[in-house]
Amino acid sequence: MAAIEVVEGDITRMKVDAIVNAANTSLRVGSGVDGAIHRAAGPRLLAACRDLGGCPTGRARITPGFDLPARWVIHTPGPIWEGGTRGEDELLEGCYYNALMLASLYEAHVIAFPAISTGAYRFPVERAATIAVRTAADFLDADPSIDRVVFVCRGERSIAAHEAALAEREPAASRLRSSRART
Ligand code: APR
Repeated sequence: MAAIEVVEGDITRMKVDAIVNAANTSLRVGSGVDGAIHRAAGPRLLAACRDLGGCPTGRARITPGFDLPARWVIHTPGPIWEGGTRGEDELLEGCYYNALMLASLYEAHVIAFPAISTGAYRFPVERAATIAVRTAADFLDADPSIDRVVFVCRGERSIAAHEAALAEREPAASRLRSSRART
């Protein structure tokens, strides 16, 4: 049975098939989780990103993980929050959906997400967590190739928001579990 988990920790240390990077559209190295992933993956990641030639907001691109424990990195630029009237919700949903599509295509059965757009891009945490969990749960209902989705959160507010979103997802409650295991 597929599972959705919420953990606290550093996504660069996750031993999973794919980790997701909250990137920018140029796929150049940023700060935040983007910077952490590039530091942990090594310089080959930047070279691979350069070859991709960027990525539109809400879409996703995949590269090897290089020096990371994860086999793949799926790069997806989230929307910058501008008040919620510029299609931010749909673009964020696209980040999660397109990342899961790529994971399924590349047979990455276990995928870890950071809280995309909730840092430098200022997307409200609770609103983002609801979109993240709903998109992942809907995807798992439709595509059995994904065994596990792990939301790797930083900070009490992000953890609580993802756990609350998980609890709301009643129909799949038997499948969903939340663990505070540290990575
Ligand atoms: N592991 C897990 N989560 C992390 C880590 C980490 N090592 N480092 C940061 N985070 C969390 C942040 O605390 C936040 O909750 O990732 C979430 C996303 O924050 P950002 O990394 O700032 O990403 P985002 O808001 O999507 O902004 C993306 O910032 O780094 C640049 O190049 C990036 O321009 C892009 C923008």
